Amino acid sequence: MKESNSVGLDTIVELSIRRGILFPTASIYGSLSGFFDWGPIGVEIRKNVLDSWWDYFVRSRDDIVGIHGSIITHPRVWEASGHIDEFIDILIECTKCKSRYRADHLLEDYGVRIEQLNIDMINKLIKEKNVTCPKCGGDLGEAKPFNLMFETFVGPQKDKSSVAYLRPETAQLIFINFKNVMLSARMKIPFGVAQIGKVFRNEISPRNFIFRVREFEQMEIEYFVNPKELNNCPYFDSIEEYKFMLLPAERQGEGSDEALEIKAADAVEMGYIKYTWHAYWIIESLKWLESLGINMKNIRVREHTKSELSHYAVQTFDIEYNFPFLGWKEIVGIANRGDFDLRRHSEYSKTNMTVIDDHGERYIPHVIEPSFGLERVVLTIITDSYRVIEGRTVLSLKPKIAPFKVGVYPLLKRKEFIQKSMEVYSMLKTRFLNVFYDESGSIGKRYARADEIGVPLGVTIDHQTLEDNTVTIRFRDTREQIRVHIDKLIEKIQTLLS
Ligand code: GAP
Repeated sequence: MKESNSVGLDTIVELSIRRGILFPTASIYGSLSGFFDWGPIGVEIRKNVLDSWWDYFVRSRDDIVGIHGSIITHPRVWEASGHIDEFIDILIECTKCKSRYRADHLLEDYGVRIEQLNIDMINKLIKEKNVTCPKCGGDLGEAKPFNLMFETFVGPQKDKSSVAYLRPETAQLIFINFKNVMLSARMKIPFGVAQIGKVFRNEISPRNFIFRVREFEQMEIEYFVNPKELNNCPYFDSIEEYKFMLLPAERQGEGSDEALEIKAADAVEMGYIKYTWHAYWIIESLKWLESLGINMKNIRVREHTKSELSHYAVQTFDIEYNFPFLGWKEIVGIANRGDFDLRRHSEYSKTNMTVIDDHGERYIPHVIEPSFGLERVVLTIITDSYRVIEGRTVLSLKPKIAPFKVGVYPLLKRKEFIQKSMEVYSMLKTRFLNVFYDESGSIGKRYARADEIGVPLGVTIDHQTLEDNTVTIRFRDTREQIRVHIDKLIEKIQTLLS
């Protein structure tokens, strides 16, 4: 079977718009950069990914509970978290046409990768490399910091006293509710709090479709551990043999971009990952991505170099995907945030954030944080599952991610075929919900439309159905067909989907 899966971003954008996965928002008004609307197919894929994440990390465990925090948040939260001072990118403006750019992206286009956002260094590099405005060729002004927080006002008074912020990460809502959750849910350290929700970042230059946007959905866990127990993860046995590709910071320091294949146990033993709890959450994150059907050959774990670390982080690893159109890019971050956040909220709010261990000693828990961006996970899934098989476009989605599980088709648009198809459709709909019926156009066109949005199975009602009550089940990836009696159809489809 001739097959290729190296896809361009333009192809993915075109498919997404044409088939209703994602649309640039307000396209009838010229759109709004960095914002997207999910279409009828996209909402199903989106929901399947979110549900899978919640099932995997929350519902199937006893040590993680969920919250759903507010989006507009108290300004003191962001003073304490450090976002008001530290959550910045470096902005650079054209002196002629006034276009604005993110300095590190601009330099990247000139082949310069900068890890530390140092304004003096950026100004120096811009001069050295003779970087000019990509739009008009004009000279660029001095680089300056730009805070990514979206501001708003709460109440009728629109002045400094009513400023609040749209959250740029869900994490802080978990930290400020740490005590509420622990006490109300009677959780004991170690435990985690998970949250799925919208976040907002006023990115200087949103780009690459949904890879970098201004409004997106995060799926985050803050996992609280006694600092004395960071190397005592009780679940470590379950993942210690797991092999993955790791690019440690020290290798990058030596100028190497080559990841090594390593077992989780060895990554800790050799000191690449400081703590077993951190390693455990990296591997659990990898295992969830694997469960979505993502090819792990395209995945690596890269440690942040010292200069890249966020203001709160002790050690951070990104899970990166090798996009054919972007190269290796972060899709998940797993940070060891130490006690930074709880300590700061304790200082700023004067709330006691300590807990007591079995020996009566008080401590502030440390935090390991797996943080996923939904849009990047979906872009990865679509990119990774996109195939051209013998000229056919196929999204080879896992059934649990597919927007529909089954399509039902009458071979011909004749009354007896349609009637039988509707019976089969109703029967399957009751059991599988995400089932669709399609009678328009040739059967080949209908199969092609379903393949493009990743529907794994198709049920066709043909001449033989009318004689012996059997139908064909067609497989998306191979186009193979099997015949099944209608009485056995639900059971068969159930088996095939699982
Ligand atoms: N609480 C930690 C945190 O927010 P982050 O690395 O800034 O860490 C976590 O973000 C994840 O959110 C990233 O791995 C990525 O998947 C997603 N993300 C971050 N910025 C994004 C953007 N502008 N557009 C889409 N996704 C983004």
